[in-house]
Parts: sequence; structure tokens; C-alpha cells
Amino acid sequence: MKIVNKVVDLQKEISLLKEQGLRVGLVPTMGALHEGHLHLVTLCKEQNDVCVVSVFVNPTQFNNKEDLEKYPRTPEQDCEKLKSAGCDIVFMPSVEEIYPEPDTRVFNFGALEQVMEGKMRPGHFNGVAQIVSKLFYMVNPDKAYFGEKDFQQVAIIKNMVKQLNLPLTIVQVPIVREKSGLALSSRNMRLSKEQKIEAVNISKTLFESKENMNKMSIQKTIDSVIEKINSIPSLEVEYFQIVDGDTLQNVSAWNDSNYIVGCITVYCGDVRLIDNIIYKH
Ligand code: PAF
Repeated sequence: MKIVNKVVDLQKEISLLKEQGLRVGLVPTMGALHEGHLHLVTLCKEQNDVCVVSVFVNPTQFNNKEDLEKYPRTPEQDCEKLKSAGCDIVFMPSVEEIYPEPDTRVFNFGALEQVMEGKMRPGHFNGVAQIVSKLFYMVNPDKAYFGEKDFQQVAIIKNMVKQLNLPLTIVQVPIVREKSGLALSSRNMRLSKEQKIEAVNISKTLFESKENMNKMSIQKTIDSVIEKINSIPSLEVEYFQIVDGDTLQNVSAWNDSNYIVGCITVYCGDVRLIDNIIYKH
């Protein structure tokens, strides 16, 4: 496995591989890798000749300085895990390397970015689009892999690929969960033992709401999910919305769309956790 820090070195490596006609897959990450990321790496290996993983905590997508500072950074462990998972190239650049000049690009994702994470974290998706588009230009991958846990992020990135006419396929990969049901996230590292047990109620409540969807209206489902999760002492729902999986706009009845997803953000102490459930697809 090669560890590359400079953009020019990455581009040299990629050109050599592309000259040989090899298919290149990319897994963009912010490090603090867990089984969810490694699952993306495994898929990337299976579907391409070469797997490139980027590890970069992107400052432009954090609208909260404290959140950026607290974001877990574990580069040595990440490299070990990536080596065992069969990654070929790890790209670990510095902030100066990625942003030699401030990125002044402003993307417009319309209604897609005006809801949920986009509404709660102004500027977040612009920062995601800045870094992901840069990585796509640098690596020129045939396929790029993103976890469905960040449901809105995947929708935004697919939209960006269309807007920029980029020649690659986005592979959307279902959430990887712990046995308990808790969605894997780098932020889980910041949960205490007790908080981790309580956080299981997020996925548990979502699964139950799917079992009961035929008995309840959308509004009743929303109210009951929020009420159940808020009844757990350390949990506080920031939002729970049931939306069309393509447009991300609220639906008001189960037959409004063939693709319906419930997206939730919950604070567990000061750790912000996100999860979702696909009711229909
Ligand atoms: O999902 C993430 O980890 C990040 O938002 C991404 C896609 C790597 C961009 O920094």
C-alpha cells in the first residue's frame, strides 16, 4: 500500500495506472475509520483494479469550529486498517495541499440542500462539494463509494456529478450497523459506554416505526419516533423527517412516493448522531 501526501505524486501514480487501462475506485473519508468504511473499501476492491482511499478532515464542511477540532484523528490506525483491507493507495494530504488558495466556489443544489442537514448546518454541503469535486478531479475515478448513512450527502454528490458532467459512477452503499443496530460512525468513538447503550434506541425506534408503518400515518410515525427517542434521558432529536428519497422533500402520505426514507439527527450528550431508514424503495 502506498501512502501519498502530495497531489502531484497522486496524479503521477494515477496516470501510470490509467495508462495501463486499470479501473480506479475511490473511497473518500475523513479518517477515524470503522467497519463501515472498510466495507466500502472491500466493495471498491471487488469492483475496480485499484482502490484509492482519501483520508482528509475537510475544514470547509465544518460550520462549527469546535466540531472540527473535536473530530477524531487516528492516521496510524487508519493506515493499518486500510493495509489489511487491501487498499492500494492512501491519499493523506495536508490542508495547504488541498487548499493552496481558498476555494471560493459556491454550489447551488436548490431544494436538495435547503432541508435537514443543509438547513441545520449552513455551508456544510458547499464544503462537501468543494472537497469531493477536488478529489474527483485529482483521482479521476471510475467509481466512487459513499455510505448511505449520510443520505442527503449522497443525493447532493450525485447531483453535483450531473451538474459538472463528471465521468464517474457514484456507488451508494447501505448503512453498516453494529449488532445492536447502532449505525457505525466515527463519532461513536466519542460516546461513553452508557451513551452508546442509550444510542441504540435510535435505530431500534426507526426499525419499529417501519414495522408499524401500515398502522400509522406519516405524521403519527414522526410524532411517535420523536417522542420515544426523546424519552431516553441522554437523547434529544434535532429533526426527524420522512422524505422522498430522490427529492428529499417531505411526504405527507405513504403513497405519495415509491421511495420513502426517514432521516434523523439526534444529540447524544454533545455528540451529534445521524441515521435513516428506508421505508419503501
Ligand atoms: O462523509 C464524509 O466522511 C465526508 O463528508 C467526505 C465525503 C469524505 C467529504 O469530506
